[in-house]
Parts: sequence; structure tokens; C-alpha cells
Amino acid sequence: MSDSRPIGIFDSGVGGLTVFSEVEKALPREEIVYFGDTARVPYGTKSKETITRFSVENVEFLMKHNVKLVLVACNTASSLSLDFLKRCFRVPIIGVIAPGARNAVNSTRNNRIGVVGTNATIISGAYEKAVKSISRKIAVYSQSCPLFVPLVEEGWTKEKVTYEVASVYLKGLKAKGVDTLILGCTHYPLLKDVIKKFMGSEVLLVDSAREVAKEAKAILDANGLLNINPGRKKHKFFVSDEPGPFIRLSERFLKRKMTCVKRAV
Ligand code: DGL
Repeated sequence: MSDSRPIGIFDSGVGGLTVFSEVEKALPREEIVYFGDTARVPYGTKSKETITRFSVENVEFLMKHNVKLVLVACNTASSLSLDFLKRCFRVPIIGVIAPGARNAVNSTRNNRIGVVGTNATIISGAYEKAVKSISRKIAVYSQSCPLFVPLVEEGWTKEKVTYEVASVYLKGLKAKGVDTLILGCTHYPLLKDVIKKFMGSEVLLVDSAREVAKEAKAILDANGLLNINPGRKKHKFFVSDEPGPFIRLSERFLKRKMTCVKRAV
């Protein structure tokens, strides 16, 4: 059995391309429809009601493209709206929180896990709840890092200023002796070098993007939804605002030429 329908991915903007990239690697035979809500980004500063309303509209858009699975790449939307989305739609929907939390629990040796994310993700406590639902004996320390997203979007991923900002945000987590740190935001995998430099190479960085790609593969496989036909896949990218800025940023995120980005109507 083979299912050639595409996988849908949505994010508040360009950051979800870190998830796109991992899904593409893990599932090279699948076609992907990506939607970035660039007209309404950032989500990380908004309320649950607003993020949930946006998320429902995003899934409705992807459904018009006949997707077989929806991946909520945005950590903020996954933290606040995933349960509601699952109740609203029949298509399987997965978020980044549970896979990231599971990986962190399997990785920690000293039972001290750190989480970094947007304000909304950290306030929601979603990662903490997900970790505690697996093991109550693990201590979770969380820190919001609101300046990380604009730094990444500015392309300042290795600059001294970024290291200094990271030091301010991360010093509390370092003092707690976490040995595993969940990068709970789409943009943070691009700051891995800086984060590692400050936290030390012995601290394991958990990239939710990679974990959710593995989960997507497992779900498609378990439900007989994999596309087993080989051949070049043509992914589609949609944004809710003018495509120009998305194209420029996405070429930096994906290190490739972006030709097929359209404004969603
Ligand atoms: N995509 C968001 C996340 O992963 C970061 C950007 C935003 O605040 O919208 O939480």
C-alpha cells in the first residue's frame, strides 16, 4: 500500500523549516506542503486563544491540500493548541513537544533537564508536563529566551552579541547542572554552536525537529500511509504575507534556492 498525499507542516513563519528539513531527510519519498504564517508571526508573545485560532486556520489551509498528516512545527502552537487541534480534525496531527520530551528523558543521566523556548511555550509548562508524565523523578528547569528568535532571523547565529545574550539566559540552567537541554523553539537549532559553547560540550542538546521527524515516520508507517513510490518530490511552500522576506530567510535556513513559495489565498 502506498499513499502519495503530502504531509502538511505549519509554523508561525520561517523557523519551522528546521522541522521541514528533518522531515525531508527522514522521509525522502514524501511530498511536503509547508505553511508559514508570516503575516501573524511571532506566536511566542501571543495568548492561547489567539494562537489556537491561528492554528485552526492553518490546519484548515493544509487540509485544502489533501494532507495525510499534519505536523505542528511551531513549539508555541504545539504547547498551547495541539490538544484542541486533535479534537477538531480527523487527520492525524502531531506536535514537537512529546517527541522532544521523550528524547530528553532517554538522554539525561543526572535527571536534570533544561528547557528553552518562547515566553508562551515556557509559561505553558508543556515540556515540563510532558517530561513529568514520563518520569516524576526528573527535575525540569525552564527559561524563556525571547531575543533568540530575532537574533536568528537577523542571521546573527555566531556573533559575540549572541553569545553574550545566551550567557545571560542560560546561566541559571547551567548553575542547576542540567545535563540535557531541550531546544524548545523552531529557531534554536540554528544557535546550537553558541549554546554548546556556553553550556559545555557535555550537555546534550535535544533538537525537537529531529525527534518529530522520526515520530512522523513511525506514524505513517504504522498506519500504512507511507509513500513508497520513488521519484523526485516537489514540495510546496505557502506564506500568509508577501513571500520576499520568507524566501530570503528560508534560503539561509535551508541553504538552497527557493523557487516555489506562494502567498496563500
Ligand atoms: N515558531 C515559534 C516557536 O517554535 C518561534 C517564533 C514565534 O514566536 O512565532 O515557538
